[in-house]
Amino acid sequence: MKFGIMTRNPEAWSSTQVREALNKRGIPYVCFSFPRIVARLAYKPYFKVNDTNILEELDALIIRPIGRGSLEELVFRMDMLHKMERRGFYMVNPPAAIEHCVDKYDILALLEDFGVPVPRTLATESVNEALKAFNELGGDVVVKPIFGSRGQGATRINDVDVADTIFKAITFHHGVIYMQEFIEHGFSDIRAFVLGDQVIASMRRIATGWKTNYSRGARPAPEEISDEHKELAVKAAQAVGCKVAGVDILEGPQGPRIVDVNSQPGWKGLQQVSNVNIADKIVEFILRDLKR
Ligand SMILES: Nc1ncnc2c1ncn2[C@@H]1O[C@H](COP(=O)(O)OP(=O)(O)O)[C@@H](O)[C@H]1O
Ligand SMILES: [Mg+2]
Repeated sequence: MKFGIMTRNPEAWSSTQVREALNKRGIPYVCFSFPRIVARLAYKPYFKVNDTNILEELDALIIRPIGRGSLEELVFRMDMLHKMERRGFYMVNPPAAIEHCVDKYDILALLEDFGVPVPRTLATESVNEALKAFNELGGDVVVKPIFGSRGQGATRINDVDVADTIFKAITFHHGVIYMQEFIEHGFSDIRAFVLGDQVIASMRRIATGWKTNYSRGARPAPEEISDEHKELAVKAAQAVGCKVAGVDILEGPQGPRIVDVNSQPGWKGLQQVSNVNIADKIVEFILRDLKR
């Protein structure tokens, strides 16, 4: 039994936790980053990193954040993961789930198909259509980059002139306008950590502004979430095909709304307020899943 950990930084907090969980169980592992992988076609080994033949020598690969890169780099990385999967290689998360989760339109489109409540959202390449929708969505919206994380680039807009300027700037740079009704959540939300068909840990993230990302300084607080929220989180993870997921739930005046499913979640904040060791749970889950 040997694991791989795909990470830019093996010393990063969550990666370190996974390494410790593997060490405890005496499971050997190798850490590597995407740019080091060599892919071969029509001769083997198909995937090699340093001296490791990935498909032959590893039993499972844990994929930490896939990272930034050019479109070409990211598409190549995903293409490699898809080929590995076609060869029967086990990955957490599966490549299709990672692909869905980098794309905020795609996540919510899938969630809606699966009957998971999402905020009213509009995406378009047309500035005029976006401006019309600004009022449809109550004149108070959050505009987000479709490919974004950690709340970066997300802007709350409640002035139509500002909206006009921002939409023109987005389309000038060939971006897609992605706009969502603002959900009054009172500066806190729920993060549910899903493994398979269970929520293994959860917290309330308490912020001083409307963005509740832990990476932006929100404070984690212990929170035992309701069965309804647990069900929604698991359904959301399954809708996008995640075995492991960090699901963000906003509690608005109209009820819970899922805004985000993270396929490569960190859990530094969550671990501070959880009784279970999350890395242990992830490793145990993978070991059980491999037996199936
Ligand atoms: N429609 C919304 N209304 C109110 N707050 C929002 C909305 N969408 C996002 N937020 C806040 O912004 C944070 C970041 O948005 P999110 O969609 O989760 O993207 P990211 O991938 O950057 O985390 C959320 O955790 C939430 O606090
Ligand atoms: Mg988020």
